[in-house]
Amino acid sequence: MKKICYIVAMEAEARPFIEAYNIRLVPDFFAPLPCQLYEAEVNGSWLYVVLNGRQHEMDLVGCEPACVATQVAIQRLHPDLVVSSGTCGGFKMKGANIADVYIGNGAIFHDRRVSGDDEWNVQGLGNYPVWEGSAELADKLGLKMGKVTTGSSLDMQPIDRDIILEHGGELKDMEGAAVGFVCQLYGVPVLYVKAVTDLCDGGESTYEEFSRNLKAASETLRQVNEQIISELLR
Ligand code: ADE
Repeated sequence: MKKICYIVAMEAEARPFIEAYNIRLVPDFFAPLPCQLYEAEVNGSWLYVVLNGRQHEMDLVGCEPACVATQVAIQRLHPDLVVSSGTCGGFKMKGANIADVYIGNGAIFHDRRVSGDDEWNVQGLGNYPVWEGSAELADKLGLKMGKVTTGSSLDMQPIDRDIILEHGGELKDMEGAAVGFVCQLYGVPVLYVKAVTDLCDGGESTYEEFSRNLKAASETLRQVNEQIISELLR
């Protein structure tokens, strides 16, 4: 039996997908951690969705909650594949449009600056591998691919932008590389599915653009994730 585990930061990003598959909440499965488990059986396999959970009445976003959720999900659920699914910022200069869905072809951190061009820098960047079937899946579903670039802030400072562009980043999020870090430690493959809510080089306030497009991007994310599940869990 296959097990696929989605790790998602915001409930709004996962809700359309959870409803489409009628995925049940398993209350307090990860207590005392805030992470929330949803599960469903699909064609004889397990489909899990793990949300980071909430604090201060808001969804927990960022690298630390993503690491905790991924760590506990792998230890308790033993998935064959982790899917880091959610929204991201894209770049107009790289052809991104609002609500486009991409498959990740790599994952780096863009805000872990330790020193110059040495092994600390290599560790800081991360540069984690993706599931080997990612390119074939993107091709089959007609999706673009791009490098996920992760930091702990929604905004983009000039130094972040320089690092993102220097390393070919295209999909700016707050969790992807953190999920990739834990998956690499356990040797569990990770697939990235990211929908664009805002354009980092579009000149608009990121938070306003993100908030306005969250619903539309979560809907295209659902459509693509349904296609992915029917490919992977036949
Ligand atoms: N999630 C959605 N848009 C984002 C952005 N611009 N930066 C980081 N995370 C995001």
